[in-house]
Formats: sequence, C-alpha cells, structure tokens
Amino acid sequence: MKVLSVVGARPNLVKIAPLLRAMTQLKQIESVLVHTGQHYDEKLSEIFFKQLNIGEPDVNLGVGSGSHSAQTAEILRKIEPVLVEQHPDLALVVGDVNSTVAATLAAAKLGIPVAHVEAGLRSFDRSMPEEINRVVTDALADYLFVTESDAIQNLLKEGRPRERIYMVGNVMIDSLQHAMPFAQSSTVLNDLGLMEKGNVVPFGLLTLHRPSNVDSLDVLSRLLRALHAVADRLPIIFPVHPRTQSKLDELNASGHPGLRMIAPLGYLDFLCLMGRARLVLTDSGGIQEETTALGVPCLTLRENTERPVTVTVGTNYLVGQNPEMIEAIACEILAGQGKKGEQPELWDGRAAERIVDILLREFSETVATSRSL
Ligand code: UD1
Repeated sequence: MKVLSVVGARPNLVKIAPLLRAMTQLKQIESVLVHTGQHYDEKLSEIFFKQLNIGEPDVNLGVGSGSHSAQTAEILRKIEPVLVEQHPDLALVVGDVNSTVAATLAAAKLGIPVAHVEAGLRSFDRSMPEEINRVVTDALADYLFVTESDAIQNLLKEGRPRERIYMVGNVMIDSLQHAMPFAQSSTVLNDLGLMEKGNVVPFGLLTLHRPSNVDSLDVLSRLLRALHAVADRLPIIFPVHPRTQSKLDELNASGHPGLRMIAPLGYLDFLCLMGRARLVLTDSGGIQEETTALGVPCLTLRENTERPVTVTVGTNYLVGQNPEMIEAIACEILAGQGKKGEQPELWDGRAAERIVDILLREFSETVATSRSL
C-alpha cells in the first residue's frame, strides 16, 4: 500500500510525525512525504523536522506565502503532477491549513482516496479560513479520523456516512507523549532566566497568530492592553509568529516589562515551557489540546472553539478578547482555583497506531473485493 502524506505548516509536522513512525514500522506500507513549503522559515519548519525525527520530505513544492487563494492554487498546481507520478493508493492529510484542503482537492479530482486526520472539528465560524478548509476537506475525504465525539455528530449532520467515521484519539497527543521525555532536557528555562535556586519562577506563556486577533491594529492593541494586565501579575513569555511580528512592527507600541517577546521556539523548548507554565494564553487550535493533555490551564483568546472537549472535559476557557474576563480568569487560576481537567477519551498516545491499523484493514478488504470481482 502506497501512502502519500502531505504537510505544509508547523502544526502539520507535529501531527504527521507519529503517523510516519507507525507506517515505517510496517513493511506493507510504502510511505512518501510531500512538503508544500507553506511554512519555510527555519524556526517554523526545519527545526520541527529535526526535533520530530521526520526524514527529509521526498518532494518539496516550495510554494511559500501568498493570499489564501494564491497559496491554495499554487499548491493545487504543483501537487497534481506529483500525485500523478507517485500514483499512491491513498493521500493522507492532517489538520486544517491551506495545504490540507489543496492536497485533498487535487487528490479527489484524480480519484485518489483521501484520509483526513482531525476530521469533523467545527467552530461554525466561516470567517476563519481554517473552518472553510475543514468543511471542504471533510466533504471530499473518504476516511474521516476524529479526535472527539462532537466531531462525529458534526460529520453526520453534514451527511457523511457513519461507516467512514472513525474515533481514534489525537495524533498531536501521540507526539506530545513521545516528545515529553526529550523536552525535559531542554535548557529553555535556564536560557530565559526562569530558574532561581533550582526552582521554576512562575510564568505564563502566550501565542497569538489568528488573523482575527492580529490583522487589525485596533484589535491587536486592545488585546495587548488586556495581556499587560495579566503581565502585571505574572511574567509572560511570548514567542512571536512572523505574521504577528510584522503587525507588532507596524503598531510600534511600547512594550511591558512583564511581557517578554522572543523568536518562535522549536517543538521541544515549547513543550518544556508549556508543561511548566502556570497558565497559557493562546489563539492556536493545537495548544488548546496540548494544555488539556498536560493539565495546564489555558485561556483561549477566541470567541469559539472547534475543539469543545478541551472546554467541557479539559482545562480550557474561552475568553475571547474580553479584558475583564481575561484578567478575572487569570486571577482565578493564579489563586489555585483553575480547572483541573481530565483526559478526553482515547487521548492515550496511540491514535496513529489505530489509524494505520484501520487503513491497512480497509485497504486489504478493498484489494480482496476488487480481486473477487
Ligand atoms: C497557518 C495556518 C494556521 C495555523 C498556522 C500555524 C492556514 C489558513 N493557516 O497560519 O491554521 O494555525 O499556520 O502556524 O493555513 N511567514 C513567514 N515564514 C514562514 C511562514 C509564514 O514569515 O515560514 C509569514 C508570511 O509573511 C505569511 C504569514 O507568515 O504571509 C502567514 O503565513 P501563512 O502560512 O499564510 O499562515 P499562518 O498565519 O502561518
């Protein structure tokens, strides 16, 4: 069975790593990796390949940045000949970035079956580019692997057949569990001066990159004011995404001594910080899940989440851009009254194994059926 996996942006790499590991252990699977080049900076791409032990991609499409349509179109144009040449039995896509939807569309048009890992998540907010990517990808994918039970209901409501939906757990948590022992030896706490006499200085961790939070300078400066109120109480480490950095440069606002902006971090350093943080503030999707898995309180700076299990079962709070709410919940957490949370069903580090088992079973049944016809 030949599987062509597609990655493009930073979170894709975290999700694909355990799948590649599970596939390369089996001689029945020939695995090909295509990197679209959506993310290309050393700090957003290369370091993740290294730290997640993902080998060099077989193909790099080198698409780079662009508007959503331009980027998606460029991936479509460049991936089609690769799919034709490689002629895989299956295209494997993860997450909800532009590379995910573009690869799915190209494969579906060529009649290549598509498996979508992290299917069915819905924010019900079509102003999010990722929501459009999720809806289109799931409409076309043949195998829908879900991380939480709400996703099953979302897919059923969209008319996807129940027998195509598989609840398997969360590959991002597979990666986290695998990498955590290595993250413990990161020197990042010392490097950032967060160790004092052998103890970790209490700190918070912030990430911010959603267009809805950073593209408007008004919204961004309002959010920064709310974050400064938290930074009055707790030093915050802020690895800045390139999109956000360019907006901060435009804003040219005065900083806050408690809000420490640094360059984007590698996976292991980031995991190390996340695991030791008193709280995390973010607008990322994956970090909502990782904090739940780690039992660290998370304030999600968005009005909605496509990952509701992190709020109902885990440690996540949806706080939007509301300064009073951000401050009040941060204070609650710092007073030791934060959510403790539990582990969502099947977030046990074995999702990739389940996915690969299902694919092998389904594929051998398909081959058996076509032989008997
Ligand atoms: C993309 C995903 C988002 C994901 C995020 C993780 C989509 C629609 N969005 O957002 O879901 O959470 O990745 O990081 O696919 N840039 C660089 N270097 C890079 C890549 C980007 O400087 O290596 C800059 C470029 O100026 C670019 C901007 O960042 O225009 C945005 O990059 P892009 O890939 O379009 O989206 P992200 O905001 O990273």
